[in-house]
Formats: sequence, C-alpha cells, structure tokens
Amino acid sequence: MKLLDGKKVSNQIKDEIAIEVAGMKERGEKVPHLAAVLVGNDGASLTYVGSKVRSCKKIGFESTLIHLPSETTEEELLQQVHQLNTDPDIDGYIVQLPLPKHIDEEKVLMAVNPDKDVDGFHPTNFGKMALDMETFISATPFGIMELLKRYDVDTEGKHAVVIGRSHIVGRPISILMSQKGKAANCTVTLAHSRTKNIKELTLQADIVVSALGVPHFLKADMVKEGAVIIDVGITRVADETKEKGYYITGDVDFESVGPKASFITPVPGGVGPMTIAMLLKNTLLARERHRN
Ligand code: GUN
Repeated sequence: MKLLDGKKVSNQIKDEIAIEVAGMKERGEKVPHLAAVLVGNDGASLTYVGSKVRSCKKIGFESTLIHLPSETTEEELLQQVHQLNTDPDIDGYIVQLPLPKHIDEEKVLMAVNPDKDVDGFHPTNFGKMALDMETFISATPFGIMELLKRYDVDTEGKHAVVIGRSHIVGRPISILMSQKGKAANCTVTLAHSRTKNIKELTLQADIVVSALGVPHFLKADMVKEGAVIIDVGITRVADETKEKGYYITGDVDFESVGPKASFITPVPGGVGPMTIAMLLKNTLLARERHRN
C-alpha cells in the first residue's frame, strides 16, 4: 500500500507557485490577488477560508477575506459579488459554501464573473470543463487528478467508481476521469445515495473515489485487492477527549481498507490540502489570463 500524500504534493505545488510569484515580483508585475467571501460563522468554513488566506500569504499572493454576518441578505451578498467582479485588483475570488439557508446559492454562483471564478462553479466554467475546454476546474476534482498524475497512478482503461453526485466533487470528477484530454481514460460509474448495489459496483472498481460524507462508509469487504482509493470525505465527529472537541474522518475505513489498496489517500492529509493548492493554482492562472 502506498500513501497518496496530499500534504507533501500540495507543498510541492505551493513551492512551484511561490517561485512563479517571486518571478512576477522581480519583474515588477502585479502578484495574484485572491478574495474569499464568507457569510456567517460555520466552523468548518471558517477553518477552510482561514487556511486558504494563510496559504496565500505563504506563497506571496495578496488575499482579502470578506467576512459578512449570517444575517447578510441575498441582495447585499449580490452587491458584494458585483463589487468583486468590477474590482480590477482582484484576479479571482470564491464565495465559500454552504451559504445560509435564506440565500439562493445558485443565484449567487451565477452572478460570479466566470473569468474570476477560481472555484470553477459557474455554469460556463462547469460546461467548459465537461467539454474539455480550457477553464477553471474546481479545486477538489482538479486536486484529485493532479494527485493521481504526480504519483503516476495508471488510470488508462480502468473502471472508476465515484460515490456521490455533488456539483462540486462527485459530478465533475466523474466527468474528468472519463475524459481523454485529461489522460485519465477511465470507464466511470457514478453511484450515489439511491444506488441499489453499491458493494457490487465498488467490488469491480480499479479506482474508488468516495465523496459521500459518511464516516467509515467504505469497508474492506467492499473493495477489491489492489484498488486505488481516493477518500474525499471530511467529516467532523464530536469527541470531547480531543483538544478541539472533534476529530476529522473520511468516508473510508482506513484501517481495514488500507492493507488491500495499492494507493490510498489519508484523511486528513490527502485530498484536503490538494484542494487549497489547486485553488491557488487557479488564481495564478487567472492572473496570467488577465495579464494576457
Ligand atoms: N465548500 C466546500 N468546498 C468548497 C470549495 O471548494 N469552494 C467553496 N467556495 N466552498 C466550498
């Protein structure tokens, strides 16, 4: 079993980006500027956004955190989005999800300028991704593809079973893995909460990507010997004995599945850090595209 070390690879990617940024500074060019909009005080979102902003500082990007109260109206948030769309200093920005219930997520994501949509959530960018055109690929699926590439995992003609059909992970990764242009060339099955025979499917999988958000869902008796296991689940489980009052766990029962796998991502330290690295990569791309 080989660990797909997302922490290590994400640090490599961040180092590569930092070198590019140093070059920009030397040439007296503007450095990439990422903004993040956070509405409310969801614990996980605060952690993610904090981590994104800290990573920007480390690699020499400019960053702006716009933290709005949970009572922010849809109208106010849309105004903020329009302001970011027209601010020439901002190369890319994200609106952290989930948004409070009283705000229509779709309406907000539709309002983001696709040229600044470094999350790749706008229908224009999602559509371009599906058509294998140049775009911003959402950070989590982009990170999974990059992790497989950097570990030289053979995906050619393999059967990949993706569990979960979310717009930000399951759906896009199922598309990317089936593509020729991304050189994955997998045969893909997209399973989800209504799939009747998940175990039958995962037992046939050469690659399993689990993006369900159910702790320890994937057990050893559900995977075949030598499978590649990508765990996208990041669930906080309450535990008073831990310093933070919770611990983080994935969809995969790592202890039992690990020994059967050829490659496996740990949680934490697998897909999570890759997501941040690829968001930064998209922001660098945004800066380069705006310059040209
Ligand atoms: N919530 C969970 N993952 C993401 C992400 O990649 N981007 C944003 N904006 N919100 C998220």
